[in-house]
Formats: sequence, structure tokens, C-alpha cells
Amino acid sequence: MKQKNIILCGFMGCGKSTVGVLLAKKTGMAFVDLDSYIEKKYGMTVSEIFEKFGEPRFREMERDAAKELSAKNGMVIAAGGGTLTFKENVDVFRTNGRIILLDLPVETVAKRLENDTTRPLLNRPDKLTAMKELYEKRMPLYKEAADIVVNGDDSPMQVCIEIMSVI
Ligand code: S3P
Repeated sequence: MKQKNIILCGFMGCGKSTVGVLLAKKTGMAFVDLDSYIEKKYGMTVSEIFEKFGEPRFREMERDAAKELSAKNGMVIAAGGGTLTFKENVDVFRTNGRIILLDLPVETVAKRLENDTTRPLLNRPDKLTAMKELYEKRMPLYKEAADIVVNGDDSPMQVCIEIMSVI
């Protein structure tokens, strides 16, 4: 039988990629980061894509990438922070995968992303306000998308162990 994918979901900075790498190593599954997949495919960073083409075009690329990756099996996939806020992507990933939300408070996100400049949506003078607004808006969508919710406000290894205990 084909092994289902595991899709890690959650807000920017929740640890999707770091935990994903660990989880893949521990389970022997392959790992792919959705943003890195897009960056490789188009030869540009996410920031460059936003700058040159705008967010709507990035979302199209993201949707295509979600379709392409969900055609594979047995992978740990770190989604982008916006990916699972779109029902279409949730449906695509659900066909052969389980979605796991890394849940953590916005205060932890703020601390983790204090000096980050790689997230175009937060690269603005009112970063903290924008972050909180986006967090409030998205959290219910993540919870709706998720099959399983784990506590993301922990060390990557702890989060990985918690995920392994519930999958
Ligand atoms: C985004 C999150 C980013 C990246 C892009 C948009 C978002 O991924 O996909 O900047 O809409 O939250 P990370 O969650 O890996 O930072």
C-alpha cells in the first residue's frame, strides 16, 4: 500500500521546515519544502517572486507546486504559511496525506521572526501589527485544515517526537 504524505502546516516561523527535516530523518521518509521547491523550479527566491510578480502569481505557483507534490507518496512536506489557508490546496493535499498543524502563540512567532527579512508579507514597518492580524485571520483556517494539531511551541526535536507519537 502507498504511504500517505505528511503535510506540516502553520504560521511563518512555527518550525515546519526544521521539524520536517527531523521527522523525515526519523521516519525514513523523503522531505520536501514547498517554498524551496518553488524557488528551485523558477530559479528565484520567494522574495524575488513577490517583488517581481506579486503575491497572486506566487499563489498560483504555490497551487501548482501543491498539485505536483501531492502526486507523490510517502513524503514529509513543509507547506508555506499561506498554503493551507486555501481550500483548494487543503483538498489536494488531503487526497493522499495527513495535515499536521504546528500550533504556537503569536508571541513566540514574533520572537522567532524578530530579525527575519525573508518573509515578504512581514517586511514592513508595522511588522508586528501585520503579523498579529494575519495570525488571527489564519489560525481558524489552519485548524479547519488540520487532521492533527500538535504543540509547536517546543524544541524541534520535541515537536518531532510528539508528531511521531500521534501518526
Ligand atoms: C508565506 C509564508 C512563507 C512563504 C511566503 C508566504 C505566508 O513560508 O510561503 O513568504 O503567506 O505565510 P514560511 O511559512 O515557510 O515562512
